[in-house]
Amino acid sequence: MTNVQYTLGWDETAMRFLTRRTLDSHGAFFVPYLAAGMHVLDCACGPGSITQGIARAVAPGAVTGIDMSASQIEMATARAQGEGIANAMFREASIYELPFPDASFDAVFSHALLEHLGEPVRAAKECLRVLKPGGVIGVATPDWDGFIVAPETPELVAAVRMYREAQDRNGGDTRTGRKLGTILRDAGFVAPRMQARYENYDPSRIIGEVISLQLQRDGHDRLAEVVREWQTDPEGLWAQAWVSCVARKPA
Ligand SMILES: C[S@@+](CC[C@H](N)C(=O)[O-])C[C@H]1O[C@@H](n2cnc3c(N)ncnc32)[C@H](O)[C@@H]1O
Repeated sequence: MTNVQYTLGWDETAMRFLTRRTLDSHGAFFVPYLAAGMHVLDCACGPGSITQGIARAVAPGAVTGIDMSASQIEMATARAQGEGIANAMFREASIYELPFPDASFDAVFSHALLEHLGEPVRAAKECLRVLKPGGVIGVATPDWDGFIVAPETPELVAAVRMYREAQDRNGGDTRTGRKLGTILRDAGFVAPRMQARYENYDPSRIIGEVISLQLQRDGHDRLAEVVREWQTDPEGLWAQAWVSCVARKPA
């Protein structure tokens, strides 16, 4: 499997952060493209909370979630079983080497992955390969240049910069959002449709905990403290800009 440094990690804080997500809250841009009977691939499904929504939307079709982390596959499988969802399957795999034949899926979805990858175009080409001709892809990532963070103290700005540097150092790109259309076009997709929205973290500690833990892991204890103080500020705002792109494989 391709060696990837994934910044967020898989600890309890990260899981609390991700399992809040649903198809309606984070994948709404893709809902109009889903229909009963489709077979969908969810690339980097994480704990599978969005995948479950896809399973419900395409039943009696099915969704296959892949993730490079065995712990995520285990969690996603257990969560789907716990919800009585029988049409969601999960498999450990890298997006760079999908274990499926050409033209296997009607649709490919990927949420919050491409910003962590050093070779997003290569990943998108692999998605193109497993899509049927005319099939649809929907991807979404944040764009950190679109964030609104308040109150904007120099220390908080420094903390955000340090977190971004960690992700960029790990081979990711915190400005991937605005590049999604170009990435999909360069991979061979056509008819891209870009959209953007804000996610407002309320309470602020939902994002504050994730950021401060990473800063601490990187040895920036003072900046981690700044974020923890910020997240108790009643005027605190962290509005995250999400960009999505939907495109097609040529028929
Ligand atoms: C931020 S989480 C997103 C999870 C889920 N899609 C969501 O939005 O809630 C990113 C996921 O990408 C996975 N990941 C990172 N690099 C990967 C790769 N090359 N192939 C497959 N999964 C990868 C990580 O294990 C992690 O579960």
